[in-house]
Amino acid sequence: MQIIFATQNPNKLVEIQNQIGDQHEIKSLLDLGLTEELEETQETLEGNALQKARFVFKKFKQACFADDTGLEIESLNGEPGVFSARYGGPEKSFESNMNLVLDKLKGKQNRSAQFRTAIAYINKQGEELIFEGVCRGEILEEKVGEKGFGYDPIFKPEGHLKSFAEMTLNAKNEISHRGLAFSKLIYHLSK
Ligand code: IMP
Repeated sequence: MQIIFATQNPNKLVEIQNQIGDQHEIKSLLDLGLTEELEETQETLEGNALQKARFVFKKFKQACFADDTGLEIESLNGEPGVFSARYGGPEKSFESNMNLVLDKLKGKQNRSAQFRTAIAYINKQGEELIFEGVCRGEILEEKVGEKGFGYDPIFKPEGHLKSFAEMTLNAKNEISHRGLAFSKLIYHLSK
């Protein structure tokens, strides 16, 4: 079956195609010639994922899914959450985003946090389903590691000694929010 992944991020496409094997063919928006950025104007991760998936379903009338991820920090009342991409400013810089988190957490004892991914899947009949993946952990005092992207250098997953930015992509995907949400979607597709 061919399924559209409503993303323009080629890394995410490789990630899920690796996990899913050759049972399904995943096409990205770039494969379909759609280069405009999709709107994410909702107040929740689920809402944004649905907004993107509905846009793509309306356009192509094919099974499709979209994802949205946020870093939720306990002592910041769940911030940056749905604003994760642009927390430090509209330029969407990973450095400014991390610096703002580190500044806001200065002197705070509770550094518990989680990454949460919501995936909205719409099948050929137009039925909508949401899958969620959570990775719990803590925010480090400073950036550690060079790999990955986003907040990886300041996030240490629970039960591990390394930050996400010190892990190989495979090791990260095995425990990550997005990896878990993808697994749930893949299990559903295999039924
Ligand atoms: P998106 O919904 O996947 O585009 O994620 C929104 C924002 O969350 C990104 O711009 C990153 O700042 C952050 N983010 C998402 N996934 C990860 C991750 O696996 N590691 C670190 N940061 C992430």
